[in-house]
Amino acid sequence: MALDDNKGVWKSGRGKGRKTPKGRQYEDSALAEVRALLGDRPRRRDLLIEFLHLIQDAYGHQSAAHLRALAEEMKLSMAEVWEVATFYAHFDPLREDDPVPPALTIRVCDSLSCELAGSEALISALEDGVDPSQVRVLRAPCMGRCDTAPTLELGHNHIDNATPELVHTAIAAGDTHHKMPDYEGFEAYCAGGGYAELARLRADGDWEQVQDQVLASGLRGLGGAGFPSGKKWGFVRANPGPRYLAVNGDEGEPGTFKDRYYLERTPHLFLEGMLIAAWAVEAETCFIYMRDEYPAVLEILATEIAALEAAGIVEPGYIDLRRGAGAYICGEESAMIESIEGKRGLPRHRPPFVAQVGVFGRPTLVHNVETLKWVARIVREGPEILSSVTHNGRTGLRSYSVSGRVAVPGVYLLPAGSTIVDIIDAAGGMAEGHAFKAYQPGGPSSGVLPASLNDVPLDFDTLQPHGTFIGSAAVVVLSDQDRVRDAALNMLRFFEAESCGQCTPCRVGCEKAVKLMQAETWDQGLLEDLSQAMVDASICGLGQAAPNPIRLTMKHFADEI
Ligand SMILES: Cc1cc2nc3c(=O)[nH]c(=O)nc-3n(C[C@H](O)[C@H](O)[C@H](O)COP(=O)(O)O)c2cc1C
Ligand code: SF4
Ligand code: FES
Repeated sequence: MALDDNKGVWKSGRGKGRKTPKGRQYEDSALAEVRALLGDRPRRRDLLIEFLHLIQDAYGHQSAAHLRALAEEMKLSMAEVWEVATFYAHFDPLREDDPVPPALTIRVCDSLSCELAGSEALISALEDGVDPSQVRVLRAPCMGRCDTAPTLELGHNHIDNATPELVHTAIAAGDTHHKMPDYEGFEAYCAGGGYAELARLRADGDWEQVQDQVLASGLRGLGGAGFPSGKKWGFVRANPGPRYLAVNGDEGEPGTFKDRYYLERTPHLFLEGMLIAAWAVEAETCFIYMRDEYPAVLEILATEIAALEAAGIVEPGYIDLRRGAGAYICGEESAMIESIEGKRGLPRHRPPFVAQVGVFGRPTLVHNVETLKWVARIVREGPEILSSVTHNGRTGLRSYSVSGRVAVPGVYLLPAGSTIVDIIDAAGGMAEGHAFKAYQPGGPSSGVLPASLNDVPLDFDTLQPHGTFIGSAAVVVLSDQDRVRDAALNMLRFFEAESCGQCTPCRVGCEKAVKLMQAETWDQGLLEDLSQAMVDASICGLGQAAPNPIRLTMKHFADEI
């Protein structure tokens, strides 16, 4: 920025004044580069994370000069831009003197299923085997590919069942881009009757009738909270518009990969379900918040949304696809909404609930990807598709993501009353040479149960008496070759890394728990006090559920600690 002579920009009257404006100044060249990247996109505050992606994608990092220029272009303070850029793991904001990261990044998953499959040895071998000036090796949480553990991301190329050899071959070949799966596209979906129900409902449908169908099916929120899906629609409708719909595609709970599984196969079933729910609550816009770890899904959705626009099924811009940036907490619905608004993903205090005060302060219907897929199926096939399935006194179907020591890890659609025995059977039994010892029923938030609890239906409400819950049905099976205390430590390390830091019991509690859990003998009294403080005083589900692995290990595996 050119300064006028020697006058001092804030000088008025007598005195020396300042020679420069306060704070960092933008550089004309950086501003021109940022403007070129942003093109004619509106300079809206809520698009800040999208713009940070543009810089990161183009340069492999975010220089202080570019961040300053972005702040200038968006009329934001540098502090606002910096705090957002530093919050998300997939951004590399740099201070002036920071070294530029190497051109290639390998993110190796070190969450539970990948750790069981040898991610620690993989990380060491990669660190020893690459030139650190060219390639950096980072640890990263679950990438939703636990069925092919250990997994890593080389640039944006996910390498499944990864070995150092596969990585070196891919580096040599410059193979750093994501691979596209074979999925059902728009025309194939329409040929099978797709979007006919949406058209019928839009023409003369009664939203309350559809809500009744959803209620009759017994569908509950498959993001993990299990709230009856139909009931939410009425809550949102009870608030005056404009209203929004926000799809939770963050799928960050380690061990969960069902949403990716469905989106990489039948994306339109989800999209039609989303548009039916949007019609029911008269949503002005549908935001889809999709995790950055799923580049193929992001491409599928961008392509298929364009197909919907071209076919006139939605107005251009009606579906607003947003890309996460590597933060588990953005799966918590109010944190996701903050992120959609272009901010750090800090969970909000409730009430008010997002059904009342959501995106941009408006009533917002939030649904998980799989929940919406079921909405489409219920409307097409009737509520009986779920309500007619009973097993062990439970009703409905559940998509279990199964990984760990089973023969054939994968997503299994089974009756909601399935026990761990049913689930291991579906996954081809235990892996060869492994005897069943313990299992994580629903992500690290659910902790670990012993093999002896093998007759409990893994469904909503059935696990509470055992001090846990089904959550997103992310089942990880452990064997006689695993120590549950190590699994619990892995889980707490995950929470420590992913805590948003907003409240002390969670931020400090996770850190302290990790330290205590590394001792040969656990201080059980102190760990219990800590757990209680976290449960009582954390703002959101992360801090409230993080003690589950600690408590269940103390309860069922005392011999290990
Ligand atoms: C720490 C935390 C992480 C969460 N992560 C996800 C997630 O990745 N995906 C998801 O759909 N729901 C997640 N949820 C649940 C959401 O807050 C919310 O209940 C859900 O998106 C609502 O949609 P549903 O009713 O269709 O399940 C998370 C909740 C918490 C507390
Ligand atoms: S409980 Fe943890 S993740 Fe949730 S708001 Fe508090 S610090 Fe953030
Ligand atoms: S991809 Fe590694 S644990 Fe899920």
